[in-house]
Amino acid sequence: MNCGGALIHPNLFLTAAHCHASFKKQVFVGPVTQYWDANMEIINVERQIPFPAFRELPVDDIMIVQLAWPSTKATVEYNRRAQVPAFGDTVTAVGAGLTTEGGSVSLYVEHVDMPTTNCADLPAWLLREGPDNHVCAGRNGKDACQGDSGGPLLANGVLVGIVSAGIGCGRRPGVYTRVSKYLDWIDDTICQYGSFPLPAGCPPVTPPAASPQNLPDREPEEAAERTPSPAALDTAFPTSNDYEKVPSAAGTSFPTASE
Ligand code: ARG
Repeated sequence: MNCGGALIHPNLFLTAAHCHASFKKQVFVGPVTQYWDANMEIINVERQIPFPAFRELPVDDIMIVQLAWPSTKATVEYNRRAQVPAFGDTVTAVGAGLTTEGGSVSLYVEHVDMPTTNCADLPAWLLREGPDNHVCAGRNGKDACQGDSGGPLLANGVLVGIVSAGIGCGRRPGVYTRVSKYLDWIDDTICQYGSFPLPAGCPPVTPPAASPQNLPDREPEEAAERTPSPAALDTAFPTSNDYEKVPSAAGTSFPTASE
């Protein structure tokens, strides 16, 4: 099954850790449809950086994927405020997953607006680590679905959550990884794996001093190569491109915390 993500730095996107199988080789960055799209970029995956404690969704279901070269698409701001979103705030999930439970994948990248809800309403087996690590949102037919995993949950255009788990689709609120809980790890990972220029808050990168014993044996061209083009076009939501058709889940008789 396909997954989504959100570009947080020109060469890094944020997604769900349970999406590791979807992001092994290549991603589509900035597509409008599932398939060929003249506006999208096709970029190789350099490495996957799952949150170190991740074992199983929806606990610590967060991962950063490093691209082999920077995208030129606009990045999305990620939420730094623990109290955002508040209960009842309108949030927007974005993805190209199934349009109905057990249905078919959406041809286009779509979005749905819905209110956040109290995670405590969900069964304990779905929220194994307690409600504070998640944002919960939707119900009454408004929800993410299979194939939307890893994709963004936005509040006023700011990335507040990552599609992680749910019970079927549209029946109960969906469960999203709460981005602000992982702020230090995200900031640190950008400083460590981000292309230049790095955010202002990163520790300075000190090049080794040039001394006769320490001369570069190659031209120092890497930094220039890694500088992204300034042309930020539109906000990019990468999706994996090893999409394959999935069997309909219509015969499933009991709900599971589905991938
Ligand atoms: N884990 C699912 C995926 O891989 C997403 C589940 C979200 N489900 C929901 N009802 N909100 O795509």
